[in-house]
Amino acid sequence: MNTLIDGAGLARALRTRLHEQVARLPRRPGLAVIVVGDNPASAVYVRNKIRACEEVGLMSEKIALPADISEQALLAQIDQLNARADIDGILVQLPLPAHIPVQSTIDHVAVAKDVDGLHTHNLGALLTGSPAVVPCTPAAVLALLDAIECPIRGREAVVIGASNVVGKPVALLLLQRGATVTVCNSKTTDLAAAARRADIVIAAAGRPGLITGAMLKPGSVVIDVGINRLADGKLAGDVDFASACTVAGRITPVPGGVGPMTVAMLVANTVAAAERTLGLPAIP
Ligand code: GUN
Repeated sequence: MNTLIDGAGLARALRTRLHEQVARLPRRPGLAVIVVGDNPASAVYVRNKIRACEEVGLMSEKIALPADISEQALLAQIDQLNARADIDGILVQLPLPAHIPVQSTIDHVAVAKDVDGLHTHNLGALLTGSPAVVPCTPAAVLALLDAIECPIRGREAVVIGASNVVGKPVALLLLQRGATVTVCNSKTTDLAAAARRADIVIAAAGRPGLITGAMLKPGSVVIDVGINRLADGKLAGDVDFASACTVAGRITPVPGGVGPMTVAMLVANTVAAAERTLGLPAIP
């Protein structure tokens, strides 16, 4: 069996399905992406998101704002987008400059347009297990596990990283699916011991090469969420791929693993938001 999990291929297949779905809608769904400042990683992510929207037939708009924009001016931009009938989804690209409070900015987006699933309402709904817009990266992680038919119920899952964007929502989704979940963070004293008992490892710490093959249980499924730019310009995950791929049963590469699937999930969330606005039944 192939060890590699082909995130790029699975994302392509999802985009094709979404394209067919969009073609049946009475109008094009619209996504607005707000970028504040000039973070180079954000520029790459946003370009990928806009490109995926174009490919699937969505209308997309990038709103680039200066790094020194006031909180008030940023919220006014969000107000304008909340009021537009041609915009179904609004995403505020993170990170934001230090003077802008993150959660209250995200919470300014109308709940119906929160395609990032990071609004307090949607994160709360995820916690209580009610239907919600699931954040894109956690949705991508679960979609990849499902695509390879990885059993989750009753399995040991270890999530490394506890952010609101990835670690915490991934842990909740795995818990909902019946996994026994351990969430590690930067203060965890024995990461290797935690990782070694895991059937499923989700690495989302943002530290290149943090997880090595020696820390893994043989045959485990490893999902690498990290996208780290190294000094030589190359991308690396949080998992040391060379050592891990000889121990893991299945593993995602970086690039070409979680990243493309995350972008496809954003498009899926935007299409679903448009369908709700249009009063159409959701297509699973
Ligand atoms: N920056 C890195 N990942 C994300 C994400 O999932 N959503 C947003 N808005 N910004 C990000």
